[in-house]
Amino acid sequence: MSVTTHALAQSGKGYSITRMTEHDLLEVVQIEESSGLSRWGWAAYYSELQGQYGSLMLVARLDGHQSVSATHELAGYLVARVAAGELHINNFAVRDSYRGQGIGRALLTSIFAEAVSRGASSAFLELRAGNAAALALYEKCGFKVTARRKRYYSDPPEDALVMSLQFQ
Ligand SMILES: CC(C)(COP(=O)(O)OP(=O)(O)OC[C@H]1O[C@@H](n2cnc3c(N)ncnc32)[C@H](O)[C@@H]1OP(=O)(O)O)[C@@H](O)C(=O)NCCC(=O)NCCS
Repeated sequence: MSVTTHALAQSGKGYSITRMTEHDLLEVVQIEESSGLSRWGWAAYYSELQGQYGSLMLVARLDGHQSVSATHELAGYLVARVAAGELHINNFAVRDSYRGQGIGRALLTSIFAEAVSRGASSAFLELRAGNAAALALYEKCGFKVTARRKRYYSDPPEDALVMSLQFQ
């Protein structure tokens, strides 16, 4: 997949993709908890934000008038790391009420650009084999399934699919 290294996206669609800050963490944890992701929690995100692991942490920040209530400012987030020229996507979710609007794709596209600007030449991730929405999104963004790990996940037990992508 070809990736341009332009700045983080200002989409004109009611949100913009920006770097995560400490101020965002309570909402990030709230989105994590409502999205069925493996739990990281506030402390793990805070530690990741210190940036010593090659971490890349983005949020989809709602424009003021797009937020359906004053209770939240974020539509989604993505947490990844770049190490040894490889982008590893760790945690990624969009609030249920904002799904299907291209926000997940915008977060992925922005993280690709950031990773390439840091020298990454490939990306990989694992996901639950039954996560059809994420699988479809990753395939649309150019990822291919490269392996299946039997019963990799618990609560509930499920196989993992390993997916990877070469940047060009
Ligand atoms: C996976 C997730 C991040 C997608 O976010 P999203 O903002 O809804 O995704 P987008 O609107 O950008 O979708 C882009 C493409 O993904 C695919 N897609 C997204 N949701 C889908 C669904 N429910 N069913 C099938 N395909 C889907 C489509 O191909 C879509 O392209 P299209 O709009 O041209 O049809 C979101 O569903 C989510 O937060 N899920 C729960 C947490 C999770 O599973 N995270 C990933 C862990 S590996």
